Parts: sequence; C-alpha cells; structure tokens
Amino acid sequence: MTEPVVGILGAGRAGTAFARAMLRAGIGVDICSTRSPKALRHHLKIYAPGAAPVWPAEIAERTKAQGPAIVVLAVPQEELDDVDPQWVASTVLVDATNRWHDELLPSWLQAGIDEQLPTSMVLAGRFGAGSGTGVRLVKALNHIAHHDVESSATPELPLAQRRAAAVAADDDDARGRVMGLLVRMGLDPVSVGALPASRIMEPDGPLFNRPLRRADVLRHLP
Ligand SMILES: NC(=O)c1ccc[n+]([C@@H]2O[C@H](COP(=O)([O-])OP(=O)(O)OC[C@H]3O[C@@H](n4cnc5c(N)ncnc54)[C@H](OP(=O)(O)O)[C@@H]3O)[C@@H](O)[C@H]2O)c1
Repeated sequence: MTEPVVGILGAGRAGTAFARAMLRAGIGVDICSTRSPKALRHHLKIYAPGAAPVWPAEIAERTKAQGPAIVVLAVPQEELDDVDPQWVASTVLVDATNRWHDELLPSWLQAGIDEQLPTSMVLAGRFGAGSGTGVRLVKALNHIAHHDVESSATPELPLAQRRAAAVAADDDDARGRVMGLLVRMGLDPVSVGALPASRIMEPDGPLFNRPLRRADVLRHLP
C-alpha cells in the first residue's frame, strides 16, 4: 500500500518538528520553504530526514493524489502575503500559525484582528471562502511548541495517556481528516468547536503551550 502524504508549508522550527513526527508515524511529507527544493535538501537532511523538498506551488500535489489532501501551514503570519492561496486549493489547510506581538502583519490580517476575530477566521477568509479555492481551514498544532512536538507524539500509547491536541473547524469532514492525522501522529485530538472557539488555542489562551490531557481541554469548553 502507498504511504499517505501530507504537505507542510514552511520548513522552520515548527514545520520540521511536525514533519519528524509524521515521518516517524509512517506518513510521507512534502515540504517547502522560500528556498528551492535543491537548496532545502541539506537542511532537511539535518532537521527532517526523509521529507521530500518541493516547490511551494507543488505542496498539495501528492497529498491530493495519495493522501488526506492536508497541507499544514507553518509559515510566520508576517510572511502570509507571500503565500498564494492557489498553492493549497481544494485542500484541508491546517492553520498552525500564531500571532506574535512584534510581527508586522499583512493589512488584511491586522484588520481582522482589530475586529476582534481569532486569526484562524481571518485566515479562513483569506485562503478559503474569500478566495474561491475550496480550502477548508482547520486550526490545529499551533499550541504545541516545536521542541515538545516529538516527545508529545506518542503513537505507542493509548489515547487516554497521550497529550491532547485541540482542533477547531467549521467543516466536519475537514475536522475528521485532521483528527485522524493527529491520532496517527500519536496525539489525542479534542474538538473544541468551530473556528470562533479557536481563541482558547491562541498564545494568550489557556491551551497554549501547556501539556494538557483531554479532560483539561474539555474543562475550557463552554
Ligand atoms: N516554533 C514553534 O514552537 C511553533 C509551534 C507551533 C506553531 N508555530 C507557528 O508556526 C509558524 C512558523 O513558526 P516557526 O517557528 O517554524 O518559524 P521559522 O523557524 O522562522 O520558520 C518559518 C519557515 O517558513 C518559511 N517561509 C516563509 N515564507 C514562506 C513562503 N512565502 N513560502 C514558503 N515558505 C515560507 C521559511 O522559509 P526559509 O526557511 O526559506 O526562510 C521557514 O522555513 C509561526 O506562525 C509560529 O507561530 C511555531
């Protein structure tokens, strides 16, 4: 059987940590950065051996052909103007990004934040509903620090003993695909609701960067 493949946009601290956890779980990874695939190859040998470097415009090709059609967005929010929504058309886009206070954000993102929207909703408008790409956005993986991803991803443990990973989405099928990916990676996915609920996953929220179990996450739901 061919291995499933997931795309990861961004090959920095977070993108390569997600890649290592996926590769360990038998999931193939296509990954890209601002560098050419050739230039990225050496970096991946060190930080995500086994991940395949691709051009950004190719990031969704293999996952749509032989995977869950999932692309993880692991690019700093200040760089999002340079991410073309067409690269991820017709995918489930996992928004693993966070807002950091010193970042100068794209104007469309800052405008949404000024309206008190969680950033996932603004990104959903930019990459999905607002651009006609058919993208369904799921907020996940943003609240686990890169240095904790590998030790938190424990497929050998039963769900109840794993670290909880919150998931917020408006689309049930998209949410289910991402929860399936997280289970396979070795996390215990917990749905917190639709995208407005992703506020609790953001850097100033109660789920951020805390090694929580399912029951701890559920305590924060209305
Ligand atoms: N660090 C963490 O612990 C962590 C955990 C969870 C979520 N996050 C979130 O994940 C995002 C990335 O954080 P990070 O710490 O991984 O940042 P980082 O180490 O600076 O890596 C950013 C990556 O994004 C790539 N990139 C930038 N613009 C791009 C573009 N237009 N197209 C393709 N790739 C592009 C960069 O490419 P080059 O390599 O070519 O420069 C780099 O590989 C942030 O929103 C962060 O909040 C971070």
